Amino acid sequence: MATIKAAILGFGTVGQGIYHILNEKREELRDKLGLELEVAKILVRDTTKERVPGTAHLLTDSIDDCLSVKGIQVVFEAIVNEEPAYGYLKKAVENKCHVITANKVMFAKWGLELQELARQNGVFVGYEATTAGGVPVIKTMKNILLVNNVSRIQGVLNGTTNYILTKMRAEGWSFEEALKEAQILGYAEADPYNDISGQDAFKKLMILSSLAFGDQPNWADVEVVGIDSISAQQVEQSIKNGLRYRHVAEVEKHQDGTLFAKVAPMLVDKEHPLYPIDDVFNAVTMETNYIGTLTLVGPGAGMYPTASVMVEDYAEIIGKRAGFVVTI
Ligand code: NAP
Ligand code: HSE
Repeated sequence: MATIKAAILGFGTVGQGIYHILNEKREELRDKLGLELEVAKILVRDTTKERVPGTAHLLTDSIDDCLSVKGIQVVFEAIVNEEPAYGYLKKAVENKCHVITANKVMFAKWGLELQELARQNGVFVGYEATTAGGVPVIKTMKNILLVNNVSRIQGVLNGTTNYILTKMRAEGWSFEEALKEAQILGYAEADPYNDISGQDAFKKLMILSSLAFGDQPNWADVEVVGIDSISAQQVEQSIKNGLRYRHVAEVEKHQDGTLFAKVAPMLVDKEHPLYPIDDVFNAVTMETNYIGTLTLVGPGAGMYPTASVMVEDYAEIIGKRAGFVVTI
C-alpha cells in the first residue's frame, strides 16, 4: 500500500490535535482512502521544548527540512501570523504539496493568491479550519454556491469572545477570569489581542467574503469593534433587560455590487437567532436566493473541533486525487 508523507507546521493546540487524530484514525483512514499516512516532520520555533512523547525525532525549525522529505505530499499548517506561514505554504505548493491551513490571519490576506498558485501547481488548499473552528461553513458554502447566490452573511465567528460574554453573564466571572479559562481551554490565541479586539472575527469574515463574493471590502472601510468596548456594568444591565451581548460579524453585497461589512458587539433579545448561541459556539447565517436563510452552529474553537476539520480536508483532498468519493 502506498504511503502519503505529511509535515505539520506548528505543534501547539491545533498541531497536536492533528497529530492525535491522525494516530487515532490511522487504520480507519487507511481503509477508507487506500493509503497510509506518515507524519514525517513537525516544524516548530523551539525544537528543545518537550511536547508529545515519541515526537522529538520529528521536530525541526526548517521548512526546507520538511519539504526535502522524499515523497512529501501534504503540509498541515497551524502556526500563527502572516509570516513565515505564507512563505512556507508558497514553498510547499511550489513543491507540489497539498496544503491545509488553520491560519486565518495569513489566509484572509493571501488566500486567493495561495489558491491560484495551488491551481497552477495542480494541488489543493484546504482551509475549513480558518473559519468557525469545527463548523463546516466553508464546505457548506462551496456546495451552496454551486447553485445559489449568497447575498448576506452574519455570525458569531470568535469562540473566545462568545465564551467570555457567556461566562460573564451566566457565572458572574470577571472578563479576566473568563479570558484566562479560554486560554487554558485552548480557545484563545497565544496573544489574545485579535480575539478581544474583533480582528480575529474580521479576518474570518473576510475569508467568507472572498468565498461568497469573490472579493473583500476595502479593509480600512470596515468598522471593527471588539468586546473590550463592553463594561461589566453594561453586561449587568443587559441581564436586567433580558438581553444578551453577541459579538456579530456581517458582510453583505448591495445591489450596486459594493460590499459592506461590520464587526461589533450587539444586544439581542430572545427572538434573535443568535440569542441561544452560548459558550465557545459559533453561528453562521447565510442568506441565499433559493434556499432562503441557512444557519450553521457548532464549536468555534478548540483542539479537536479544529484539528478534525483539517483531517477531513486531508481525506477530501487525497480522496479526490485518488479518484474516488470519500464518505467518512
Ligand atoms: P499555539 O498553541 O500558540 O501553537 C502555535 C504553534 O506554532 C507552536 O507550536 C509554535 O512553536 C509554532 N510557531 C509559531 N510561530 C512560529 C514560527 N514563526 N515558526 C515556526 N513555528 C511557529 O496556536 P494554536 O492555537 O495551535 O493555533 C495555531 C493556528 O491555528 C493559528 O493560526 C490560529 O489562529 C489557528 N486556529 C486556532 C484554533 C484554536 O482553537 N486554537 C482554531 C482555529 C484556528 P513553538 O511551540 O516552538 O513556540
Ligand atoms: N481564537 C479563535 C477563537 C480560535 O476563539 O475563535 C478559532 O479560530
